[in-house]
Amino acid sequence: MSDPREILITSALPYANGPIHIGHLVEYIQTDIWARFQRMRGERCWYVCADDAHGTPIMLKARQEGIAPEDLIARVAAEHQADFADFRVAFDNYHSTHSDENRHYACLIYARNRDAGHIARRTITQAYDPVEQMFLPDRFIKGECPKCGAPDQYGDNCEACGASYSPSELKNPRSAVSGAVPEQRESDHFFFKLADFDDMLHAWTRGGSLQKEVANKLGEWFESGLQEWDISRDAPYFGFEIPDHPGKFFYVWLDAPIGYMASFQNLCDSPRGQAAGLDFDRFWAPDSKAELYHFIGKDIIYFHALFWPAMLFGAGFRVPSAVFAHGFLTVDGAKMSKSRGTFIKARTYLDHLNPEYLRYYFAAKLGSGVDDLDLNLEDFQARVNADLVGKVVNIASRSAGFITKRFDGRLCAALPDPVLFAQFVVAGDSIADAYERREYSRAVREIMAMADRANQYIDEQAPWVVAKQPGREAELQDICTMGLNLFRLLIGWLRPILPGTAEA
Ligand code: 2FM
Ligand code: ZN
Repeated sequence: MSDPREILITSALPYANGPIHIGHLVEYIQTDIWARFQRMRGERCWYVCADDAHGTPIMLKARQEGIAPEDLIARVAAEHQADFADFRVAFDNYHSTHSDENRHYACLIYARNRDAGHIARRTITQAYDPVEQMFLPDRFIKGECPKCGAPDQYGDNCEACGASYSPSELKNPRSAVSGAVPEQRESDHFFFKLADFDDMLHAWTRGGSLQKEVANKLGEWFESGLQEWDISRDAPYFGFEIPDHPGKFFYVWLDAPIGYMASFQNLCDSPRGQAAGLDFDRFWAPDSKAELYHFIGKDIIYFHALFWPAMLFGAGFRVPSAVFAHGFLTVDGAKMSKSRGTFIKARTYLDHLNPEYLRYYFAAKLGSGVDDLDLNLEDFQARVNADLVGKVVNIASRSAGFITKRFDGRLCAALPDPVLFAQFVVAGDSIADAYERREYSRAVREIMAMADRANQYIDEQAPWVVAKQPGREAELQDICTMGLNLFRLLIGWLRPILPGTAEA
């Protein structure tokens, strides 16, 4: 046996100003299945996450509610964690980007990059709300679309005609915060010089760390040139103040991925991390043998496949082993929508349905690529009924009843059909390979094919007929023993997807 792998896995950090919805859950369920699979294989695998707690929207939301941002993020953190727990997303640690660990690593990564010459400072002109006395992010400026004139369009694209433009082109612009006419004001900002990492990023993005379609997309970005990245924001801002620059804060996207490190550090320092001998540097030093994987949505590839590895590299840390991007969730073929009633919060789902069903449905549709995934509500019901109830659980219920009632709960000593059992064992290799490659839909297909095979065995043996014939007791016990053993393999294979069902 080779030594277990050491694996650190993350999902993207959800913003601390809104509820978890089923679109988010595609990612957390996808990651959780992978983490559970790795643990079942005996690997030393750690799955960490945190709330993404900084930024203007969170500051403004707290203000709107008349509470401190700290109180808002504490309330949302509790809600997020209850949702995840009830969906059986089993993090080894859940932390917050508004934490001491995160401040430490954000300052460290910034300082090391600054000292190595990778931070520039220059003056920019930006929209400013004179009433609120704050600079306005694009999405907080609204006005009429410069192309079609539609009113109340936000930021840099029009929902009515689809046009893209710069927020400064909006007609009759207004601050979405106060309604005031924005002014243009100058301010000094800090920039991360991404182009300094051109060679390193070229090599890393082509070195097998990215899915093919993601690597291709990056190719386009390289061609259009790597731009400097604005990593600072002016007060008022909810975030970390940049050391030695009062009134200047790290932009939320600077400290968000660093939250992966912060959560892991927090785990290392916990009693559990200590007992497991977890050591931060063993995972994050440049020569680390541990594997580091980030599961993310395809909308945040730029941050994870360019800024993040560059920031890490510039600060003398290891880079990720791979970034796994997934597509978006649609419901009945369309973007989730509040007005259509298809914007489903995790909690709403939980109030009505078993979380295992959604885990199963997503797994049955997830591949390793970035394709969008559709939750078709009719198909959802049909698959759960046909596969979980009709195929899998049916095998156990058809076998276990007789064993309980007629044999005092005892199985027989030997399997009556060792050849069939051996075929099942062999099938397990390909199923494991599918999990490892994140081809969950293939894993589910192969598992269900074996479930069909098990049901066929029981149909052929017809234990309900045997049960009625005197003198065939031993045969009945054999058949049911076989059925239950096949079920044991099936539910074992399904355990990463259906932890609750497997436990039951
Ligand atoms: O897009 C988002 O929802 C961000 N909160 C994800 C952050 S992921 C990581 F970088 F922290
Ligand atoms: Zn328009």
